Amino acid sequence: MTVTTPDTAATVEFRGLRREFGPTVALDGLDLTARPGELLALLGPSGCGKTTALRMLAGFEHPDSGEVLVDGEDVTRVPAHRRDAGMVFQSYSLFPHLDALDNVAFGLRMRKVRTAGRRTRAAELLELVGLADKGRSFPHQLSGGQQQRVALARALALRPRVLLLDEPLSALDAKVRLTLREEIRRLQQELGITTLFVTHDQEEALSMADQVAVMHAGRLEQCAAPAELYGRPATAFVAEFVGTMSRIPGRLVEGGVEVLGQRLPIDGQAPEVSATSEVDVLVRPEAVGVRAEDAGSARVVATAFLGAAVRVTVRLADGTEAKADLPTHEAAALVAGAAVSVSLPQRPVLVAERTR
Ligand SMILES: Nc1ncnc2c1ncn2[C@@H]1O[C@H](COP(=O)(O)OP(=O)(O)OP(=O)(O)O)[C@@H](O)[C@H]1O
Ligand SMILES: [Mg+2]
Repeated sequence: MTVTTPDTAATVEFRGLRREFGPTVALDGLDLTARPGELLALLGPSGCGKTTALRMLAGFEHPDSGEVLVDGEDVTRVPAHRRDAGMVFQSYSLFPHLDALDNVAFGLRMRKVRTAGRRTRAAELLELVGLADKGRSFPHQLSGGQQQRVALARALALRPRVLLLDEPLSALDAKVRLTLREEIRRLQQELGITTLFVTHDQEEALSMADQVAVMHAGRLEQCAAPAELYGRPATAFVAEFVGTMSRIPGRLVEGGVEVLGQRLPIDGQAPEVSATSEVDVLVRPEAVGVRAEDAGSARVVATAFLGAAVRVTVRLADGTEAKADLPTHEAAALVAGAAVSVSLPQRPVLVAERTR
C-alpha cells in the first residue's frame, strides 16, 4: 500500500515554551523532546498545558517565548498550513455535511491534490483504519469510535511528519477505547511516525507510549519510559499522579528514613524535602506487606477484590491510611476490623514533604 510517511521520522523539540493567556500561565518554560518514530504521551492534570503544547507544534498557537524545532529546524513562526503535522482532536471534528471519504479527502483538496488522486488516497486511508466499507457514511451514521478512525485517517492523509493526537479516545466507551488504543499504537509503529499523544488517563499513557512526559502547571515534571516512570518517579507529584501511592509518616535519620519501625534507604532525594526531619514515605500498594497479627497496631478498614489480588486498606496506629495489594489467597483472613501488622520491603523508598 502507498500509505507511507516520510522516509525518516522526525525529531520534535520544545525549548523553553512559555505562553500566557491574561493572568493564566498555560506553559511555563516547557522543555521536551520526542525522538524519531516514537510515541510520546503527554500526561497531566486538566489545565496543565497539554493541548496548548500540541497546538504550538501544529502551529495553531504561538509561544510568547521559546522555540519549537522539527528535525532541528526552528518552525516557531511557520504558519500551520506549512507545517507537516496531522492532528486529531479530543471531540469529534468531522465535517457533518461530508461523508467519510470526503472528510479524509478534505485536506488533500486544500493541498490541491488532483481529484482522482484524492479519491484513491482517501479510500486507501479508510482501508488502513478498517473502514473500507464506510466511505459513503456521514458522521451521524458512524459510531464514536468510527468517527475517530475517520479523523485519524484524515490526519494521516497528507503523510505528516508528526502525528498529534489530543485525547482522541476520551469520548469513547471503555471497550472501544481499549481496541482503538491498540489499533492506533499498531498503526503508529507500522508507519514509524513520530507521535505526540495527549491523555489524562495514566493507564493509557503507560500502556501505549515509548516515553511518557508528565506535565504539571505548564512545566515538565519528568519524561521517561513507562516502567522507569512508575518505578523511579523523579518527584512526589509524578509518584502520586502515576499509579497508586500511599503516604506513610516517617522521620529522616542518618542515611535513610525510619518508617513503621524499620530503617530504609532513600531512593534519591525528592527535591521538595526541606530541612525538617518529618517526612512522608511514598509506597506502592504492591510494596506494602500486611499480616494478620493479634498484637498488630493497625486495623483493616476495607478490602476490594481485584481478581488476582485483593487491595487492602489499613489504618495505621497514627490514623494514616495505606493501601496494600496482596495475592487473593493471602488476604482471606483480612476482614474489616482485623488487627494486622504492616511492613515494607528493605528497598529504597521515595520521601516527600509531610503534607498534614
Ligand atoms: N485560548 C485561551 N484563552 C484563555 N485561556 C486559555 C486558552 N487556551 C488555554 N487556556 C488556559 O491555559 C491553561 C492550559 O490549557 P490547556 O488546554 O493547554 O490544558 P490541558 O492540559 O489540555 O487541559 P485538559 O486536560 O483539561 O484538556 C488552562 O488554564 C486554560 O484555561
Ligand atoms: Mg486539553
